Amino acid sequence: MKPLFLSIAADQISYDNNENFTDRKSYTFNSELELKENLELFKKQIHNSIDAIVITSQGESQLKENIFNYQNKKVDFANALENVFHVPVINNIEETENEDLTELVEKETKYSAWHLDYYGLDHGKRQYGQESMQTIGNGYFGLRGTYLEAKADDDNYPGTYVAGVFNQLGTPINGRNIINEDLVNLPNAQYVTFKIDDGEYFKIDENLIKESLRSLDMKTGVLTITQLIELADGKKLKVIEKKVADLNNFHDYYLQYSIQPLNFSGKIKILTEIDATVTNTNVERYRNLANKHLATDEIKNDNKTQLLFAHTNQSNIKIGIKAAIDYQNINNPSYAVDNGPEVASQTIEFDGKEGQIYTFEKAVAIFTSLETQKNLPEIIQKHQFQPDFETAENSAQLAWKDIWKKENIVVAGDITAQKLLHLNSYSMTCAAQTKANENLDVSIGSRGLTGEGYRGHIFWDELFDMNFYVLHSPKLVKALLMYRYNRLGAAMDYASDDDFQGAMYPWQSGMYGDEQSQEVHLNPITNKWDPDNSRKQRHVSLAVAYNVLTYYNISQDEEFMQEFGLEILLNIAKLWISMAQLDENTGRYSIKNVMGPDEFHEGYPGKDNEGLKNNAYTNIMVSWLFKKLAQLLKDQPSDVASENLQRSRFTSQDVEKLDDIRQNLKLDFKDDILGQFEGYFDLKRLDFEKYRQQYGNISRMDRILKAHNDSPDNYQVAKQADTLMALFNLREEDFFQIMDDLGYPVKNTDKFMNDNIKYYIERTTHGSTLSRIVYSMLLSRIDDDKTAWKLFYEALTSDYYDIQGGTTAEGIHLGVMGATLSVVTSVFAGVDTRGDTLEINPNVPEQWEEIDFNINFKGANIAFQITQDTATIRSDKDLDVKYTDKNLPLTANQEIELTY
Ligand code: BGC
Repeated sequence: MKPLFLSIAADQISYDNNENFTDRKSYTFNSELELKENLELFKKQIHNSIDAIVITSQGESQLKENIFNYQNKKVDFANALENVFHVPVINNIEETENEDLTELVEKETKYSAWHLDYYGLDHGKRQYGQESMQTIGNGYFGLRGTYLEAKADDDNYPGTYVAGVFNQLGTPINGRNIINEDLVNLPNAQYVTFKIDDGEYFKIDENLIKESLRSLDMKTGVLTITQLIELADGKKLKVIEKKVADLNNFHDYYLQYSIQPLNFSGKIKILTEIDATVTNTNVERYRNLANKHLATDEIKNDNKTQLLFAHTNQSNIKIGIKAAIDYQNINNPSYAVDNGPEVASQTIEFDGKEGQIYTFEKAVAIFTSLETQKNLPEIIQKHQFQPDFETAENSAQLAWKDIWKKENIVVAGDITAQKLLHLNSYSMTCAAQTKANENLDVSIGSRGLTGEGYRGHIFWDELFDMNFYVLHSPKLVKALLMYRYNRLGAAMDYASDDDFQGAMYPWQSGMYGDEQSQEVHLNPITNKWDPDNSRKQRHVSLAVAYNVLTYYNISQDEEFMQEFGLEILLNIAKLWISMAQLDENTGRYSIKNVMGPDEFHEGYPGKDNEGLKNNAYTNIMVSWLFKKLAQLLKDQPSDVASENLQRSRFTSQDVEKLDDIRQNLKLDFKDDILGQFEGYFDLKRLDFEKYRQQYGNISRMDRILKAHNDSPDNYQVAKQADTLMALFNLREEDFFQIMDDLGYPVKNTDKFMNDNIKYYIERTTHGSTLSRIVYSMLLSRIDDDKTAWKLFYEALTSDYYDIQGGTTAEGIHLGVMGATLSVVTSVFAGVDTRGDTLEINPNVPEQWEEIDFNINFKGANIAFQITQDTATIRSDKDLDVKYTDKNLPLTANQEIELTY
């Protein structure tokens, strides 16, 4: 082991490679800088490679090691150093020398890999963001990681969301009644607080909280919040609160609240509520819009059980919440209940003795009429909870163990990446998991169930997540795709409203599958509502088709394809047939009035409402879909194919058109650069530097330009990958085959890749978290590993550091999380599951020693261990694997090792 020894003081770090500090050096903090920036400068000073950091000074916290003062605030130095050095940080103070460093390092490596900790209180959007990150959930509900004692205010937002519970409200804006459909913030049943004697009920207040540690254990799904409290009158207490979601009985979550008077004895009164006065106010810019979605119907409350019934005031979803309370070590408590019109509250009062720990427990079940159509009141009244928190905690641990067995991606050599890959899988599971989703008619919103950003809507972002889900839980993906199948009718209505045929899925989908995109969008720079044309992103239907085909390829679920999948595909194809217009003179087809994934381009300069013509991404994906579909129709038994054609009203002329259109859609080129859309090359380039100097962060160039009465429509500037998204989705050989099919053969494919990737990245501001991860994948294809790694890391840490400066407050970004996991397995480990045969072509970043994981592929479960120069593969079924164009037959349960 090569440790670096550190001693931390208020204004500097002393360090040495040996624990006796015989060659002591130091780094003095620059007080103008944030700790992270200082540590990055400090890192530059360290020339030799290290694999652990040992802090030898005594920390300043009772709750966690390695907490030190930095600029008058106590900070978790272990965390901060790990985030910069990516190696484990331990504490071994000089007095307790001789502890086994290797053991301590191993312990910390494990701890850090599985814990997302926040030491101390934060404020505003930062704390909101941390709550989003520490959400617990199970696919059915998400419960934000708020302090139990908090009510919604500027620093705390105790949101509760159940998948699919949407409601619409209207708000007058600029003389129009604008209707918005929101994922509803449900009654807050996680509220628990206390008071001592005749004092006030305790509220989250940094003057009273001397220390606090919020620790999410991703391995077991338990969030633990510990606080050392000193009340205004000097009374000290320690409070430990825990939350856990039940993954099997997915209606339920459990709370445990332990309170310990440290320097006094007195009356302790615990207050807990189900609070239905809550509104949707997580997103600051929506706060002036109508936000009261719930009407309370009935409250029933006895000493130990609370019931609250409510409904959403437009969609009329019935909601029932049951809470059961219990306690340990509390003698002769006195109960009281109090029902306000919208709040069920209970108190327990008892005599507290100095030093004793009193434990209060609350179990909560949420039912809605969406999944519980019959007898909701009866079912909820009869509903039984697990006997206590500990049992619930143990069963959650077992359920998570099963999940991690399937989806754990282990990377060796980078403690930060390991933590965040766990966080991404954890968040993906909280957003959707088979046990719940099999029973639900829902899909995944772009923010999961962690906040109200984008109103909980479902976008094309599904495409970035499905690959991860399907490799680990194919059944889950089937359930998610059924959300789309069940809304095929709505998509057909949407198409016919626009005078098209087939199915046009909405850009933003909620409850009914109709279009839920906003018509106006608030520009925070000007505070004005600008028109929003993002709904013209018709490519969302291509993402749905892509997901159906990804699922089918990996699961080989014929039944799904025959009953549902083919019908979805045929209807989507029908849309594009009806959108494609033939120019008789050129024999080429054009698709007009669309937008690509780059949301900066809503149309041509000065033309507000016509969208764009021949968006390359759209046209290429249409061509790809038509080819796949034609093949699929041939491969299916003829009765199945014809039954599906009939059901989808897909005529023989339509079948013929598939071939004609897919070979003749129009693309635009300048030399070998593929134009984002027709006319793209007529646009001006933008001087990024000029704006960077004025604004610093220029990622939302659209807002900046609009604030200058200008428009991104006028320039070659993109929010995210657009043209090149086709190369993210498709295998290179398929992509170039399509270019051939379209009559635009590419002779030098390497040059094409190089030129196009470089061309577009220079014109992209990464205004969406979905951008960097796509470019990371693309750059690694052209061997720019350095930039690929940089962008990968920015994508990996995007919610952790809230790189968009406040959007994590409104919920995590599930798309980038899923895509990041996917890039690790498909690009870095190089396991490509998009073809008929599994292909392997590893490209492990030099920063990592090894990547281990399992996947499902065509009924086989395959384990991979990929290092810098070897790949060890073991499948539980016979299987062919393609490696550098050679087919390697794998025999069931026999490990093979490739050296490359
Ligand atoms: C991105 C879209 C994405 C949406 C929801 C936007 O910022 O540009 O591609 O679908 O966020 O995540």
